[in-house]
Amino acid sequence: MSGSSIGVLFRVTTWGESHGPAIGAVVEGCPSGIDLIEEDIQKVLDRRRPGRIVSSSSRKEEDAVKIISGTFKGKTTGTPISLIIENKDVNSSAYEDIKDIFRPGQGDYTYFKKYGIRDYRGGGRASARETAARVAAGAIAAKIIFREGIKIIAYTKALGGIVIKLKGDAAKKISYDDIAGDNLMCPDPDAARKMEAKLEEAKLSGDSLGGIVEIIVRGCPPGLGEPVFEKMDAVLAGALMGIGAVKGVEIGAGFKVAEMTGSQANDPIAPDGFISNHAGGILAGITTGQDIVIRIACKPIPSIAKVQQTIDVQGKHVEFSIKGRHDVSAIPRIIPVCEAMVSIVLADHLLRQKAIAHE
Ligand SMILES: Cc1cc2nc3c(=O)[nH]c(=O)nc-3n(C[C@H](O)[C@H](O)[C@H](O)COP(=O)(O)O)c2cc1C
Repeated sequence: MSGSSIGVLFRVTTWGESHGPAIGAVVEGCPSGIDLIEEDIQKVLDRRRPGRIVSSSSRKEEDAVKIISGTFKGKTTGTPISLIIENKDVNSSAYEDIKDIFRPGQGDYTYFKKYGIRDYRGGGRASARETAARVAAGAIAAKIIFREGIKIIAYTKALGGIVIKLKGDAAKKISYDDIAGDNLMCPDPDAARKMEAKLEEAKLSGDSLGGIVEIIVRGCPPGLGEPVFEKMDAVLAGALMGIGAVKGVEIGAGFKVAEMTGSQANDPIAPDGFISNHAGGILAGITTGQDIVIRIACKPIPSIAKVQQTIDVQGKHVEFSIKGRHDVSAIPRIIPVCEAMVSIVLADHLLRQKAIAHE
């Protein structure tokens, strides 16, 4: 009922609020004997941390992860793995002024209607702080999928209306090295500089920006996905839509299929494989063995310094502007979160496919 868990055989539960003492995750179903130390998870978490660039919040969290169960002598034991990350840089004073009002674009109104009580400090459970727990759990999932030869790369495709331009089929070849050195994890340096200028502009005007992240999964075997209610595309879309600020998910040609004819949209099959990939690597909810291609649309950060109109808990009109520390865009910090959610889904489905393995 609680909605804080995802997965069947590989199951992740996250817990914690933005301004509570800590956040964390419990990972169940991880096979035993996998090398796992805190540094493995820390490396991945460091990519999500705020404070690197103009688009990110000035909250300075170390995000130091501790493994408190499920490993012995640097290896997983097959028992539940508990991960904890302390919240250290907590400043709740900025939230006193807005504790009785519903901020537009946030979960304030809906959490209040659903639970009748809400932790208004930093967005509580709805805060992007919770995504650190997903990224930590995703680092474990990544270990399971990497050993099967699956690799995930995600990058900024658009920000503030500026879209990357890559020549030919360059997107198919993008590697981690192409984005690792860029602040925005963007493989097109010209577009990246324009995006940075847009972010600076938005910050100065007290506004925020949205964008698109593309995620490519390479080396995924055919056969993953559980028709009919847990088709791979359905589960991936659910996992990614479960990240705050994600308002759309496309697979393969995505919404463009609506304009195509059958002869354009179908991916012909030759003796040595598929000739195109409009399906984005998934047919009838099952992976084809081609690259899985996914895009998410990320809305602009709702916390903006501009004056906004809303109501308070009594329903009275209020005008206010947001103080506190906020990102200008969820991009690029959302990128490792997307990778984590895709890793968690694939790890679960790999283990489930092994359970029905056939010749
Ligand atoms: C990586 C990341 C960072 C975010 N940073 C902020 C932030 O600094 N301030 C804020 O108000 N919202 C931020 N958000 C967005 C909110 O968490 C989200 O918009 C809000 O909880 C409402 O949920 P919804 O957009 O899914 O409807 C961030 C989201 C992500 C994924």
